[in-house]
Amino acid sequence: MSTPKITDKFGREIRYLRISITDRCNFRCRYCMPIHDFNFIPHPNILSYEEMMLAVEVFVELGVRKVRVTGGEPLVRRGVDVFLEKIGKLEGIEEVTITTNGSLLKRHADSIKAAGIRRINVSLDSLKEERYAAITGGFGMAQILEGIQYAKSIGLGVKTNTVAIKNFNHDEILDFCEFAKENDINVRFIEFMPVGNFDEWKDTGTITGKEILEIIGTKYKYEEIQKDKLAGPAVNYRLSNGAKIGIITPISNHFCADCDKLRITADGKLRPCLLSDAEIDLMPAIRSGDREAVRREIINGLHLKEKEHHLMSEHRDEGFKRTMSKIGG
Ligand code: 5AD
Ligand code: SF4
Repeated sequence: MSTPKITDKFGREIRYLRISITDRCNFRCRYCMPIHDFNFIPHPNILSYEEMMLAVEVFVELGVRKVRVTGGEPLVRRGVDVFLEKIGKLEGIEEVTITTNGSLLKRHADSIKAAGIRRINVSLDSLKEERYAAITGGFGMAQILEGIQYAKSIGLGVKTNTVAIKNFNHDEILDFCEFAKENDINVRFIEFMPVGNFDEWKDTGTITGKEILEIIGTKYKYEEIQKDKLAGPAVNYRLSNGAKIGIITPISNHFCADCDKLRITADGKLRPCLLSDAEIDLMPAIRSGDREAVRREIINGLHLKEKEHHLMSEHRDEGFKRTMSKIGG
């Protein structure tokens, strides 16, 4: 298949689609969802797998090469394994991957591997049992670590995501560097974004990527590793203990100029940018089954993609309309 070049107003090619297959999650990460009073999207408003496949196929025709399946927690939706396999078989797709909280990983790892997935991302915000339970709304860490070990043992590559939060896991950065070395896992730190369960976390300062590197530098020497073509926005470092660490800096040093990403939410909205409330409803076009209409709407949505986000000016005080679990990170 020839690769059509679909670019936005600023010449960025779209190669990467994140699709949130559910806004539901068995966790209640404090920065993501409130523990009580949470409204999930009603079932009839959630895209079926068939509808999502139609959308993904059109995205692939438009040049998408990499698909990440997200949630909420994607592994809580029944049928996810078959869906992953189907996406992987689409002609033109070079990589399918998934971001998970890891709680159901052990159960799903074999089918994830069988679907042709090579690497997965697992959220891991603390290495201390009590803190892990505190941030996730009571979940035990052992099950997640077991899931990660099992996934690695069958040959899946695992990266972990740690949202770096001041006065929460600030003091664990060096521990994570040891964890990365001991377990041969690419640990990535993500600057905390003021998105999601915003009221509670409004006053939480972001630890910047620079601060994270400074902390790492108190114990290790490090050098930057060059990335490959479909790699995400992380800047990766090899540390003197052998660990591979990535740092993602949406706040202090945004990567909008290289953004090749679009997102679809579980209720069929196209989000040109994680950090903007702008969205286009693909649902009517998808439900009509009219591919041309879906294609047109995607292109309309693409044109809404702004040059860069205005996170710290527009959204500093009021937060966003959707929580992270309704976008997919
Ligand atoms: N800031 C940074 N990262 C976040 N994630 C969820 N909410 C935030 C936030 N406010 C991360 C999760 C997960 C991924 C999908 O997004 O930890 O790893
Ligand atoms: Fe669930 Fe992920 Fe939100 Fe945590 S951050 S509550 S694992 S969707």
